[in-house]
Amino acid sequence: MILGFLGTGRIASSVIEGIFKSKLKIKKIYISPRNKTIAKKLSKRFKKVTISRNNQQLIDKSNWVFLATTPKVGGKILKKLNFKKNQKIVSFISTINLAQLKKIIGKKVKIVRAIPLPPISFRKGPVPICPPDKQVKNFFNQLGATVEIKNEKLSINFWATSGMMAPFYELLRTLSDWLVKRGIKRNEAQKYVTSLFVALSEDSSINSKKDLKYLVKDSQTPRGLNEQAVKQLRKAGFYRNLEKSLNGILKRLNKV
Ligand SMILES: NC(=O)c1ccc[n+]([C@@H]2O[C@H](COP(=O)([O-])OP(=O)(O)OC[C@H]3O[C@@H](n4cnc5c(N)ncnc54)[C@H](OP(=O)(O)O)[C@@H]3O)[C@@H](O)[C@H]2O)c1
Repeated sequence: MILGFLGTGRIASSVIEGIFKSKLKIKKIYISPRNKTIAKKLSKRFKKVTISRNNQQLIDKSNWVFLATTPKVGGKILKKLNFKKNQKIVSFISTINLAQLKKIIGKKVKIVRAIPLPPISFRKGPVPICPPDKQVKNFFNQLGATVEIKNEKLSINFWATSGMMAPFYELLRTLSDWLVKRGIKRNEAQKYVTSLFVALSEDSSINSKKDLKYLVKDSQTPRGLNEQAVKQLRKAGFYRNLEKSLNGILKRLNKV
């Protein structure tokens, strides 16, 4: 299979890295000349990656095309490009919906929206796709765990939660900075905080079939430190604000 990536940025390079760590049988990958630096790095690192002359050449040469530009760029360039009839298109673009993509592309093509996240580079994490598609499902199952969603409106909720990556890292940063301010060396602080959260994430994943409220409860000793922390954060509106920010993202996604 020959793949093409329209837009060679953060998410395209993460997916490409994941592909070369997987058992997927890929003949060749064509990437856009933009971003130049990333494209050069990828083609140097992986023999099967070729920088295309332009976006059209990439589409002409590929069986599947991944749309990995920002929504603004996608809206501008897609209508000028000629896709092949029955070509498979996998869009990572957050704020262009299926109906809009179909209209912009204007050809009988199979379009699937997908939400990979950067840990796909080491083949970890869920990849929601919509609508369900057997080949795309099998593809992303080699790079993480595919979650098929039938209804596009429902899939938007997954997009909203995927916006919690940066807030999660900000939490880790705040905790590390706090330790550093108290005299702990930065590398020790960061090692401690990140490994603590890896362990907690693994624990929550092992227990993900139970209602998560039991983890919240079980991690508190009566009148203990965790109880104090969660109570104080609730009172300060920390979790309420988290929900508010999810609602804000959802509102924006629903506008498109
Ligand atoms: N990052 C994530 O975690 C993530 C996760 C899921 C989905 N997404 C979605 O994936 C898309 C890309 O996100 P990203 O974070 O990878 O963004 P990004 O790093 O900014 O990548 C966008 C890429 O598009 C390129 N580009 C700009 N104009 C172009 C053109 N005319 N033709 C071809 N390529 C062009 C950019 O090149 P230049 O640098 O030269 O401008 C850059 O390589 C977005 O729609 C985003 O919503 C992102």
